[in-house]
Amino acid sequence: MRHPNDGVFIASALLSHLSYNELFNQFWFRMEITMQTPDIIDLMSDTVTRPTPAMREAMATCEVGDDVFDSDPTVKKLQNLAAEMVGAEAALWLPTGTMANQVAVATHTHPGQEVIASKWSHIVMYELGGVGWNSLCQLCTVPDNSGWPLSEDVVDCFKEEGDHTPGTGLLCLENTHNRRGGRVMPIEILAENGRLAHERKVPIHLDGARIWNASIASGVPVPEYFSHVDSMMFCLSKGLASPAGSILLGQSDFIVRARRMRKRFGGGLRQVGILAACGIVSLIEMIDRLADDHRNAKELAHAILDSGAMAIDPDTVETNIVIFTLPDRCKGDAVAFSEAAREEGLLVTYMGRKLIRMVTHCDFNPAWIPAVVERTLKAVGKIS
Ligand SMILES: Cc1ncc(COP(=O)(O)O)c(C=O)c1O
Repeated sequence: MRHPNDGVFIASALLSHLSYNELFNQFWFRMEITMQTPDIIDLMSDTVTRPTPAMREAMATCEVGDDVFDSDPTVKKLQNLAAEMVGAEAALWLPTGTMANQVAVATHTHPGQEVIASKWSHIVMYELGGVGWNSLCQLCTVPDNSGWPLSEDVVDCFKEEGDHTPGTGLLCLENTHNRRGGRVMPIEILAENGRLAHERKVPIHLDGARIWNASIASGVPVPEYFSHVDSMMFCLSKGLASPAGSILLGQSDFIVRARRMRKRFGGGLRQVGILAACGIVSLIEMIDRLADDHRNAKELAHAILDSGAMAIDPDTVETNIVIFTLPDRCKGDAVAFSEAAREEGLLVTYMGRKLIRMVTHCDFNPAWIPAVVERTLKAVGKIS
């Protein structure tokens, strides 16, 4: 599939009143992508993408208002579009996925409750203890070794509020699962966990930062995932390439309360239609092409396996995240590897002592895969 940044960018850049310098920089950036392997290959995350020319044009030309007074037409348009695409009653734009998750937790729960969450999820691992800090709730974590918690583990976690026990206020799940290599949670698992929670009148929040990746990979429509949960957030700023923004979805009364919570978190922004305009482009133009990122990730996983040095099972690479284990001969750990790789012009992140993560995205060219493997092997050599 053609990359949205290719070819037409000069015309659209001209239309969007980009300065000559901007146009020149964009031109060389795109030439670099198509013509040669760049000095730096950035696979740290799918958040490293730059806004497409269509996004820059949309930012330059969109109508804006004050969204704190609920009068930014572009934000409203994005929220309505997102709600319609997901089959939700209402949607709310937030600046980050972290804030969307934290606002959801705070809106669903009250202080002193317990939140069940999968052990290696973003909410547990990477939100700085936000569930405790922001919502005054404690966490009960469930194993998610294959990428999702099993219902037999979840069922043991529910607690009734009593003289000694906190009541369970919320169940949080994640799809796709970042730390588990972008695994897609089977819809049956989500449905079963949903049933268990709802039988106990416990709401479910789904961290669907990459739910469109899950849907493209599994063929399960996003509204079907959403039908089993009470709220869901997804990010516009990951594979969908917007510079910022996440969407929280739920019933209208939940979104009214979440909007107030967002204000309390300091997340009410004024003429934010400038960013919402990019989100509209993300939803219209950037979803179908996620299949390219998945294909590139699979190809990369096979190339890494074929290099003979690293442990990886390409069958587990279902979306755009590739996680592999460093060879035993490495004396250095994953931090040392990522520093050595940076010196070789390859940017990656680590997910554990010996685990390296690479993420494919729309600014990655599969023609660079041999260079990625070569730089990986050089970095392994440096720390062995
Ligand atoms: C699964 C998941 N949830 C939430 C987030 C948070 O998104 P943000 O970086 O916009 O705060 C991320 C970011 O990497 C993520 O991977």
